[in-house]
Amino acid sequence: MRLGILTGGGDCPGLNAVLRAAAVRTLRTYEGHLIGFLDGWRGVFESRTRELDRAAIRGILPRGGTVLGTSRVDPARDGGVERVRDALKVHEVDGLLVVGGEGTLAGAWALSEAGIPIVGIPKTIDNDVPGTDFAVGFDTALTTVVEAVDRLHTTAESHDRVIVLETMGRSVGWLAVCAGIAGGADTTVAPESPMSVHEVCETVRHRLARGRDFSVVVIAEGAEFLPDPDGWTPVVADRRDAFGRPVYGGVGEMLAHEIERRLKVEARTVKLGYVQRGGAPTAFDRLLGTRMGVHAVDLAARRRYGRMVCLNGLQVSSVELSVLQHGPRRADPELCEVARVFFG
Ligand code: F6P
Repeated sequence: MRLGILTGGGDCPGLNAVLRAAAVRTLRTYEGHLIGFLDGWRGVFESRTRELDRAAIRGILPRGGTVLGTSRVDPARDGGVERVRDALKVHEVDGLLVVGGEGTLAGAWALSEAGIPIVGIPKTIDNDVPGTDFAVGFDTALTTVVEAVDRLHTTAESHDRVIVLETMGRSVGWLAVCAGIAGGADTTVAPESPMSVHEVCETVRHRLARGRDFSVVVIAEGAEFLPDPDGWTPVVADRRDAFGRPVYGGVGEMLAHEIERRLKVEARTVKLGYVQRGGAPTAFDRLLGTRMGVHAVDLAARRRYGRMVCLNGLQVSSVELSVLQHGPRRADPELCEVARVFFG
């Protein structure tokens, strides 16, 4: 058996655990070879590979990022089905394991529909891949964000300030909502639980009235504000990348500015940025990445292509790649409700 593997989209902790597990399963159980394509789909189109043999995977389990590198190259836009098919033929690869987030896996589904033998493995700190409870990388990013919320509490309290922490997450609020609950944020604003700036200010005002002179507000980068009762609308820059997708970032700054202006308190912003995507994976992500890597190879060995490995409760299993048609998975409403209990 000769399989290919690539990591695509934004990197995250736990990718190397997936690569190591897939390599060990291929080598030991099936006496096969695992060929890594470098820098995501770019490596497929440029025919750049590195075999994941024993030497290549030694010591990588606890390392963040991906030893294969990654890119945001879109296979449908930047290459095409035939070029992928040719690359697999050239490298004598029977099937391809694609480790990606919602965007990369949607591309993988399209290729799979066109007959390319693919097994998907979900990874993203945004946790927005449909069909799985958790994606590899989310737990580590969440742990980092919660630690930031804890640290911000002590400095906010010492200076009687409002600190607004902006998390990543694109169009969904998993990171913000979960970190808001686990870190004890005073308010959390997410795409799934939008608020007006007025409402956010009211929660801070209530705390001030109770003698709580500081607040920590968590906001997801993709959050939008409901209109204010007086009709005031916030202006947030609508920036787009080369693919026409929104470039997020900036809502936190805008919110802090408004809180300061309306409540006459000191407000600061922290945009955690790439800090929440880097670093060593947690035990949970090492475990999840390892289980998913092993499962993906087993699916490929049985030629069960067109599927994505998933975590269903505590069970690792798989679903059809067509689950990607549902688009980004939004944060659970029950979680948003729990977060709300602690506002103000
Ligand atoms: O990987 C997902 C993600 O981290 C989003 O949460 C964020 O908006 C985006 O990637 C940033 O991507 P880039 O690396 O292209 O700046």
